[in-house]
Amino acid sequence: MEYFKGKVAKLLVDHFCDDFRRITHALDVMKHAERIMDEKEKEGCDYEVLIAASLLHDIGIKKSEELHGFNNGKTQEEYGPPIAEQLLGNIGFDPDKTRRVCEIIGNHHSQSRYDYIELEILKEADRIVNMMEGNQIR
Ligand SMILES: [Fe+2]
Repeated sequence: MEYFKGKVAKLLVDHFCDDFRRITHALDVMKHAERIMDEKEKEGCDYEVLIAASLLHDIGIKKSEELHGFNNGKTQEEYGPPIAEQLLGNIGFDPDKTRRVCEIIGNHHSQSRYDYIELEILKEADRIVNMMEGNQIR
C-alpha cells in the first residue's frame, strides 16, 4: 500500500491526540523494529505487518485508562486488538495482515503464542525503547 507508514502514523496520532509521550514511544519502537529487520535480514518478515504492529502495539492504553484508570500488559493486550482492527479497516488494510497485526498486539506483553517473526522483532524493539525510557510498560 502506498505511503503505508504515513497512513498508520496518522491513525496513531489521531488516536493519541496530544499524548506525545505515547506517540513518541510508538515511533521509536517502529524505528528500532525497522533497524532490527534490516540488520538481521529477518526472512519472511512482512514489512507492513511489522510497521502496523510497531506503531499500534500500545493502542489499547487509552481505553484501559479511561475504563480503569490504569493500564498494564494484560489490559493492553485485551483492548488493543479490536481498536487496531477498526483503525486498519478504515484505511482498507489487508484483512489477513490485519488479523496478524491484532494477534501480535494481543500477545506483545506475554509469552509468545505465535511463531511470527514480526512479534519477535516488536518485542525486542519495545524492550529496547522501554529500557531507554526507564520504564517497564508503556
Ligand atoms: Fe510499548
